[in-house]
Amino acid sequence: MTHDLNRYSRGAIAFHWIIAALVLANYVLVNIAHDLERSAKAVYMDPHKAIGITILVLTVLRIIWRLTHKRPDVAHGVKPWEAMLAKTAHSLFYILLIAIPLTGWMMVSAYGSSGVDWFGIFEIPALPVEESRDVGGQLHDIHEIIGKAMFVLIILHVLGALKHQFFDKLPVLAKMGLGRNV
Ligand code: HEM
Repeated sequence: MTHDLNRYSRGAIAFHWIIAALVLANYVLVNIAHDLERSAKAVYMDPHKAIGITILVLTVLRIIWRLTHKRPDVAHGVKPWEAMLAKTAHSLFYILLIAIPLTGWMMVSAYGSSGVDWFGIFEIPALPVEESRDVGGQLHDIHEIIGKAMFVLIILHVLGALKHQFFDKLPVLAKMGLGRNV
C-alpha cells in the first residue's frame, strides 16, 4: 500500500542521513589521524571533536523529534522477532550516539583541554570532570570500545535494511527517503 504513513517524517529522514554522514566522517577522520604525529593529528582530530559535539546536539534534537512525531508502521511482512531486533538496534543507536560523543568530550576535559574548538567559530567549554591522565585514559578506552561497537551495529543495521529491501522485497529504504514506496 502506498501512503505517507509508510514513510518517516521529513525531519526524521533529515536527522537520519545528516547524522549518518557525520558519523561516517568521524570514523574516517579518526582513522586517518591514528598513525600521525601529534601536530598533524590535530588537523583531523579537531574536526573529529567538533563533528562529534554536533552529533551529540543533533541526537538530542532527534530524540525530541522522535517523541513528538508519528512514526511509520513496521513494514508489512517483517517478522515480529525481526522488528524486535531492529527496535533494539535503534534504541542502542540513540544510547551510543549520546554516550560516544559524551565520553569523547569528557576524555578531552579529563586530559586538561580548555574546551573544544567548533570549527574556529566558537569554543565549547570543557566538562567539569576530574583532571587526571588516568581518568582520561579510562574514558579513552570506553570511547574507543563503544565507538567500535557502534561501527559493528551500523554494519548490522545496513545489512538488515538491505536484506528486507532486496531479499524479502519489502520497501524499507523508501521509509527513510530512498526511492518511492511501491
Ligand atoms: C559520534 C561521535 C563520535 C564517534 C563515532 C567517535 C569515534 C571514535 C573512535 C572509533 C575512536 C577510536 C579510534 C581508534 O583508536 O581506533 C575515537 C577516538 C577518539 N575520539 Fe572520538 N568519536 C566521536 C566523538 C568524539 C568527540 C565529541 C570527541 C571530543 C570532544 C572525541 C575525541 C576523540 C579522541 C581524543 C580520540 C582518541 C584519538 C587517539 O587515540 O589519538 N570523539 N573516536
